[in-house]
Amino acid sequence: MSDQNQKINEFLETMDLNEPAPAEEPARQFYFIKKARMLVAKQEAQLGHPLTFCVTTFGCQMNARDSEKLVGILEQIGYKEEAEEEKADFVIFNTCTVRENANQRVYGRLGQLSRIKKRNPHMLIGLCGCMMQEPEVVEKLKKSYRFVDLIFGTHNIYKFAELIATRLESNRMVIDIWKDTDKIVEDLPSERKYPFKSGVNIMFGCNNFCSYCIVPYVRGRERSRNPKDIIREIEMLVADGVVEVMLLGQNVNSYGKNLDEPMTFAQLLTEIEKIEGLERIRFMTSHPKDLSDELIEVMGRSKKICKHLHLPVQSGSTRILEKMNRRYTKEQYLDLVERIRRAVPDISLTTDIIVGFPGETEEDFLETMDVVKKVRYDSAFTFQYSKRTGTPAAVMEDQVPADVVTDRFNRLLKEVQQISAETCSVYKDTIQEVLVEQQNDHDPHLMTGRMSNNLLVHFPGDLSLIGKIVPVALKECRGFYYIGEITESVQ
Ligand code: SAH
Ligand code: SF4
Ligand code: F3S
Repeated sequence: MSDQNQKINEFLETMDLNEPAPAEEPARQFYFIKKARMLVAKQEAQLGHPLTFCVTTFGCQMNARDSEKLVGILEQIGYKEEAEEEKADFVIFNTCTVRENANQRVYGRLGQLSRIKKRNPHMLIGLCGCMMQEPEVVEKLKKSYRFVDLIFGTHNIYKFAELIATRLESNRMVIDIWKDTDKIVEDLPSERKYPFKSGVNIMFGCNNFCSYCIVPYVRGRERSRNPKDIIREIEMLVADGVVEVMLLGQNVNSYGKNLDEPMTFAQLLTEIEKIEGLERIRFMTSHPKDLSDELIEVMGRSKKICKHLHLPVQSGSTRILEKMNRRYTKEQYLDLVERIRRAVPDISLTTDIIVGFPGETEEDFLETMDVVKKVRYDSAFTFQYSKRTGTPAAVMEDQVPADVVTDRFNRLLKEVQQISAETCSVYKDTIQEVLVEQQNDHDPHLMTGRMSNNLLVHFPGDLSLIGKIVPVALKECRGFYYIGEITESVQ
């Protein structure tokens, strides 16, 4: 049992369920964990088997981290993890709404679940995450998806135990959505998918309002966590075997601006670098407009910050960037890339690109292609523009016809893939430090690990290597990954 779980159990012993629930957090949630534990144990006795859960995450790493918090609470309450959704007693979808197809997937999966729930009426279905912050979605669920048991949003995820207890006691659909919050609740349980690496939230929300993006509306205003809480969390993770952290925020470069004692992201990184036993630091996402010289300098001299930067460009056309409210020009972006490459010569750069933003002409698109050719990204996530109700871009004139978008998207994808294959191959015959992550999915004799620049490499090895950083000689490049062999030492 981890230190944290032991502490939680000791704390739970002292809670008296005959008393009213405490008002302050996180004590209030511990009270409800204890209460839900009792309710779950009662139901298990009635059914004659242990109760299970399955959490499915849609969307970004922020959502994945939130899901780990949900799993931490579910396990504290006594539910056991079940990998197959259809067999679970409690199914939770942690949803994303960044593009329309993310929403469609959720509705599709809910349709399937409703059939399973008919056969298994005590099954619970919970929905949370970004999609639930949209009032139209909740209206639709209330009307046409009455079999859903619990609906909550992104701001009150820390109340999960309380909401479960309410649902288990009431037998009614429980809905709790907040519009926004300035609250950050620390010290709640959370599980990790991997024992050796972990995401760490450093901030929540976003203030940038890029004109196509729904995230600021569903994740609320930007709030930075206190640096002391972040450091303490990472120290605890390291004591528990973690060697790599991924610092998470929609725009990590604006970290610390709203703290009582303001602090820059570069200063935070410098503090985190000092944590003994921590080997690797990653972060995402960086907004180009806020990436400071101070950060470039810190990255240049750091021993622990990985040689990888995700720097979404979105478009290469200054005209479109302005309509997107990105607040940088094509030239400023290219100049930034140059400065970063000068400070960290072998850095891997990745990006996000949107094709078909309203008003995008062929010339604008060719500007994007030009940036791709100039920067030569190690990889790029390409998206077709998706109209999000409530965002300024949704009501802009000149929405680009679907066939034009598809054509540009295909041309872009081809270019991006060609360049990534070429950039990937430059590491052939070098020796790289690799964090061993898991057994290869297809071949049990191989292990899979990640280099500092985020590339994957497969090599012969055994399970005892998982979580260790080892030198691997890269023998063969297969497009987007390498085949290698463990070797003596790094060049
Ligand atoms: N905060 C991050 C990105 C969050 S969303 C940043 O600023 O870079 C992840 C990616 O989804 C974005 O970078 C963007 O490329 C894409 N995206 C966001 N809204 C979109 C929309 N309406 N249509 C298509 N892609 C979108
Ligand atoms: Fe969306 Fe822009 Fe905020 Fe990223 S920075 S989450 S793209 S509004
Ligand atoms: Fe999606 Fe929400 Fe992340 S909308 S991309 S899960 S912040």
